[in-house]
This record gives sequence, structure tokens and C-alpha cells, in this order.
Amino acid sequence: MARLIVYYAHPGHKHSQANRAMAREARRVEGITFVDLYADYPRFDIDVDVEQQRLLDHDVVLFQFPVFWYSTPSLLKEWQDLVLEHGFAYGAGGDRLAGKTLMLAVTGAGPEEAYTEHGYQHHPLRAFLVPLQQTACLCEMRFTAPYVLYAALRAPSEGRVAPHVTGYRRLLEAIRDDRYDFDAAAGREVIEHDALPLREAN
Ligand SMILES: Cc1cc2nc3c(=O)[nH]c(=O)nc-3n(C[C@H](O)[C@H](O)[C@H](O)COP(=O)(O)O)c2cc1C
Repeated sequence: MARLIVYYAHPGHKHSQANRAMAREARRVEGITFVDLYADYPRFDIDVDVEQQRLLDHDVVLFQFPVFWYSTPSLLKEWQDLVLEHGFAYGAGGDRLAGKTLMLAVTGAGPEEAYTEHGYQHHPLRAFLVPLQQTACLCEMRFTAPYVLYAALRAPSEGRVAPHVTGYRRLLEAIRDDRYDFDAAAGREVIEHDALPLREAN
């Protein structure tokens, strides 16, 4: 069993269609830890000791968030700035996260075709996630392909939220049960609900 922690960050949780449904499902998955950052720290007063201990207690760290200006919502950035301290996460003696895994589950309003060289976002979605990928690298963590919902604002009317949420639950359960194929995921740009890299149960 992998010890999995999901950090959910969405300042507009009440108005969310995609992430709120995903978060509701993630909370129900037994044997994992679910943290709602905006609920826990509405005043941004992040408890660094608590958060560092949470990281030490888990093997896989998953950030779930809507893409905001090609980055994370600000509280999740604040969390990174405060929690991933020198001497803890990186730098001299800072190897406490080494060997752990970082994964992202992101939604964006941009459709898949926008996240291409000739689309209006001009870059693939992964290009905007490089800061998080390199953060993992500096912390000696494995960074694995993100679970993505493109065109998230259109997803409810197109019936794409439910399968994405079901896929999310299956993904979380598979990580928990060591059935998620991280080697297969390594060759992927993004992970979508209809092509989860899962291994059969032993
Ligand atoms: C401040 C802000 C910035 C945003 N920036 C981006 C962006 O850079 N790229 C993108 O694809 N969508 C962007 N969006 C759209 C959100 O990602 C989208 O509303 C969200 O993923 C929908 O999920 P939800 O139903 O859970 O809220 C932005 C939205 C807001 C409010």
C-alpha cells in the first residue's frame, strides 16, 4: 500500500463544477489522506511543521487544482514557498522528500487543441507545469504525468465531469493499492480518464 496524500486547492470551491466533484470523490477514498488547503488555511497561515510532517508520513503527494494563470492557485504556491524549506526539501541536509512521488491533477478552461504550438495557449499544458516538475526534481522526487481535464468549463454540459471523476477515483485507489503503473505513466504527456496506466491486481 502506498501512503497517498491529496492536497486540494481551489479558492472558488463553491462555484466549482469539476474540482468540487473530484474532491468529493477523493474524500471518500479510504486509506488516503485528503487535505482541503483553502478550508484549512483561509487566512493563509500555513502550519509548516504540520505540513512537513504530513509529507514525511506519505509516499505519494498529489496536488489537485484548477490551473490559474498557468500556475497553481496562490495558496498552493504559498504552501510550496513555506513548506519546501531549505534543509528539509532541498539544499544541505535537505533530502527528506527524496524517493517520494509528486503528481498533479489539474483542470483548465483551455481545450486540448489550444495547448499546442499553434493554439492560443501556444505551448502544451506540460510546459506550464515545468516549475512543479523541476521543484520535484530538486527535492529528489519522482514527477509523474498529470491527470488532466481540458476544457473544464464545458465539461459539465458535455457530460465529461462524471467519467473524469470516476477515473480520478480509480487512479487514487490504484496508487493506494500499488496498481498504478508509474513506468507506463512516465512515457505519457498527460493522463486522461479513458487511458489510466493501471496494472492488474496481483
Ligand atoms: C484567475 C483564473 C485564472 C485562470 N487561468 C487559467 C489558465 O491559465 N489556463 C486555463 O486553461 N484555464 C484558466 N482558468 C480557468 C480555470 O482553470 C477553470 O475555471 C477551472 O479549471 C474549472 O474548474 P472548476 O469547475 O473546478 O472550477 C483560470 C480561471 C481563473 C478564475
